[in-house]
Amino acid sequence: MPILYHKGLFILQTDATAYTFGLNQARLLAHSYWGRRLPYADDYPAPANPGAWGPFNNPAHLTPEEYPGYEDMKYIDPCLKCTFADGVRDVSPRFESFEADAETLRIHLRDEHYPLRVTLHYRLIPQYDLIERWATLTNLGDVPITLERVFSAQWHLPVGDRYRLTHLHGRWFDEMHIERTPLARGLTVLESRRLTSSHHHYPWFALDAGSADEESGAVWFGLLDWSGNWKIAAEVTDYASTRVNIGINDWDFAWQLGAGESFETPPTLAGFSAAGFGAASRALHNYVRDHILPHSDVPHKVFYNSWEATLFDVEFETQAELATHAADLGAEMFMIDDGWYKGRFSQTTGLGDWTPDERKFPGGLERLIKHVNDLGMDFGLWLEPEMVNPDSDLYRAHPDWVIHYPTRERRLGRDALHLNLARADVQDHLIESLDHLLRSYNIRYAKWDMNRNVSEPGWPDAPGEPRELWVRYVQGLYRVWHTLREKHPQVIWQSCSGGGGRTDLAMLRYSDVIWISDNSHAARRLSIQEGFSLIFPAAAMQTWVTDQGAEIPLRFRFHAAMCGMLGIGADIRKWDTQQSDEARTLIAQYKDLRPLIQFGDLYRLRPADQSGFTALQYMSKDQSTGVLFAFCTYIPQHEPSLTLRVRGLRPDHLYTIEGFEGMRSGTAWMNLDLQFGLYGGLGTFGSTIRRIAQVEKKHHV
Ligand code: GLA
Repeated sequence: MPILYHKGLFILQTDATAYTFGLNQARLLAHSYWGRRLPYADDYPAPANPGAWGPFNNPAHLTPEEYPGYEDMKYIDPCLKCTFADGVRDVSPRFESFEADAETLRIHLRDEHYPLRVTLHYRLIPQYDLIERWATLTNLGDVPITLERVFSAQWHLPVGDRYRLTHLHGRWFDEMHIERTPLARGLTVLESRRLTSSHHHYPWFALDAGSADEESGAVWFGLLDWSGNWKIAAEVTDYASTRVNIGINDWDFAWQLGAGESFETPPTLAGFSAAGFGAASRALHNYVRDHILPHSDVPHKVFYNSWEATLFDVEFETQAELATHAADLGAEMFMIDDGWYKGRFSQTTGLGDWTPDERKFPGGLERLIKHVNDLGMDFGLWLEPEMVNPDSDLYRAHPDWVIHYPTRERRLGRDALHLNLARADVQDHLIESLDHLLRSYNIRYAKWDMNRNVSEPGWPDAPGEPRELWVRYVQGLYRVWHTLREKHPQVIWQSCSGGGGRTDLAMLRYSDVIWISDNSHAARRLSIQEGFSLIFPAAAMQTWVTDQGAEIPLRFRFHAAMCGMLGIGADIRKWDTQQSDEARTLIAQYKDLRPLIQFGDLYRLRPADQSGFTALQYMSKDQSTGVLFAFCTYIPQHEPSLTLRVRGLRPDHLYTIEGFEGMRSGTAWMNLDLQFGLYGGLGTFGSTIRRIAQVEKKHHV
């Protein structure tokens, strides 16, 4: 039984991990264990019963509560803060009852005095060693309650104050840097206040004792399944208790919970790996692929995107010419990016008017789509549904539809204003206009872009509390996208927000892939891709070969992009015969490797850090075939040879590895330092792809 209630302890067990908590003597719901699964129920520790520490810290302050409210002499960072109608501003959720089945547990808490119920949800995902948590707040009374902070959960680590935090940070064109830093005492806050999950920090964390690596060591990790403002507040208390609050950001947040109403937080997903960061990533990858991605079993088509070749200068002839070239190279899908719709001659006009521009496509878009389809490719289009240019028919008709304060200037971001998707009429308009577009043309692929962050976050005619905007906007976004998916299940969606500005788990419920950066310089991409891979599988990672970094050999640029779902965005009309031939060969090779990359297990063999030598490997689920990518970005001063060891082979099966002599057992290969000669000369970027193949099931000595 994955969920047990044993001697007052809730024991939640996945295949390899366990998470426990129970009521302590003070009747607080206190955490007691998160780590490896133990053999017997009696092995797990009972919740702690801390006493006070002098007159300054009550027991409540010292108890690792599963979902602490703001109350008592308790100064840790709470999960819940609200104001009741009579002005009382603390909240005491106390245990009432629980309901459980094999994999879900609901704990009902209720405020000691006020009619507020808090339900804590736990969902086990045993075979992936993951646990999902969220909370529902219900107003059982007849006057509203104002919620001011409602996190999804607090995750507790084993007692200790020497953890290391791994997280991702970045900015536009420079996403997903991996940062590892000792977790300081006090609060460490990572957050977004931009209305999107943002390029700047990512709603994911990992904690370890400081020594875990790709293959070994205990790692606790978690993320928030949400695309709006979020907050991770990791706290190390003065009593060596380390915990992580995670949820919708309470910055500028307020929610009016009316009589009889409920508010549900987004889920947080977390896990424990006893085998380092590699296993932690693979647990998430498997789960995302098997349960989140909408079209997870369909091979992603190699696409061509014309953005960097033609920018806004889009019209039939050039697009048709590019499509012909793309098909010749082996592309399976052709998409027009920005610039195809009414009045879109620069970034200052047209956003919001989702009909093809007749000057660019005399006689309609059908002719181009037919040309693309006749070449054997699917057709795709770019959209930016959440934005509007002031110079557009939509804005002229509905200037009140944007997020704004009436007394403030409406500040432009990339010449656009932000439509208020919290409004039902805006949602309905988007559903109607995009549904019409998708019904009118044979569109198989759509890129949903989002190119600014919010300012003046006002909602003048909000029906209730205007600060609900932060959450209602995201719910509106999900409603629009979900409805379009339901109506057009054949469409593959790519999510983009100026590259990776909305890279979060919830997005992958709607979009099949994420365009992770506008920066497609191959050397920088390797580390952006590595950051992405800590959380998400290659199946969700859209990569392009473009003209950025054209000084780098085409082969290296392709190899880097082949680590994800390959696309091409270069001006292929300008490629000479040799470049086109090389690209054709590499695309064919990619199609052959695609099942391994899209559906296989990832091993990061050498990090994309300053050593100049990076390598990763994908293995099929049955461990019979694999592929290894190795890259040399500069010539290391002190490393005479570039060596690495492969992973993920069956120890007693026999394999060959392309470029290396012999047929060896998995054990042997995994313990041999394979030497790579990637130096092509000073300044040369060397890269290689090596196939790994099982040749015999068992190795008999
Ligand atoms: C953003 C995207 C690009 C491209 C442009 C089009 O910058 O990240 O890929 O689609 O918008 O305007």
